Amino acid sequence: MTNDIDQQSLKNAFKLFESGDIAKIEIGTLKSLQQIHQYLFANLYDFAGQIRDKNISKGGFRFANALYLKEILPKIETMPQDNFAQIIAKYVEMNIAHPFMEGNGRSMRIWLDMILKAKLKEVINWQFVDKNLYLQAMERSPINDLEIRTLLENNLTDEIDNRDIIFKGIEQSYYYET
Ligand SMILES: Nc1ncnc2c1ncn2[C@@H]1O[C@H](COP(=O)(O)OP(=O)(O)OP(=O)(O)O)[C@@H](O)[C@H]1O
Ligand SMILES: [Mg+2]
Repeated sequence: MTNDIDQQSLKNAFKLFESGDIAKIEIGTLKSLQQIHQYLFANLYDFAGQIRDKNISKGGFRFANALYLKEILPKIETMPQDNFAQIIAKYVEMNIAHPFMEGNGRSMRIWLDMILKAKLKEVINWQFVDKNLYLQAMERSPINDLEIRTLLENNLTDEIDNRDIIFKGIEQSYYYET
């Protein structure tokens, strides 16, 4: 993490939890993901909280065509989130959608944790999720989500209100940004 925007956004992420505002956000909806994105990137990106209207790709993978985004996002929102496998499947689909121009990974990891917390009383202990293994598993995930599911399942914790775990996790999540 090298630039001012990322540093400022990291502060916003800490504030989201420190202020208790995170508890006011819905679980697993598109609106909640937009609210998280808005919170992290307000005044940093003019597209904070806004669905993209341009096509984007990463590592040779082209995310969902902007033309279809507004149709598929409400469908992803309704995917079930009752067990770990379902929640990861939903996370993977949302990643394929990649609704924002930038900052999808960081917003979505918080969004994922809020679903896990509400539904399973667990969160990911991101500080122990290796950056390269995570990115490899995410690159693989549109084809097969087994790798990301196993990686994240091995790093679940039931210490959902442990401040140290939450804040170290946010730091690690920001360190993934390339
Ligand atoms: N080749 C790929 N195929 C699918 N998903 C990918 C690929 N490369 C990265 N990702 C996912 O996309 C995220 C990056 O998206 P984006 O740059 O919009 O988010 P970010 O928050 O700015 O960055 P980061 O997640 O790296 O901190 C990664 O964290 C990962 O979850
Ligand atoms: Mg990025």
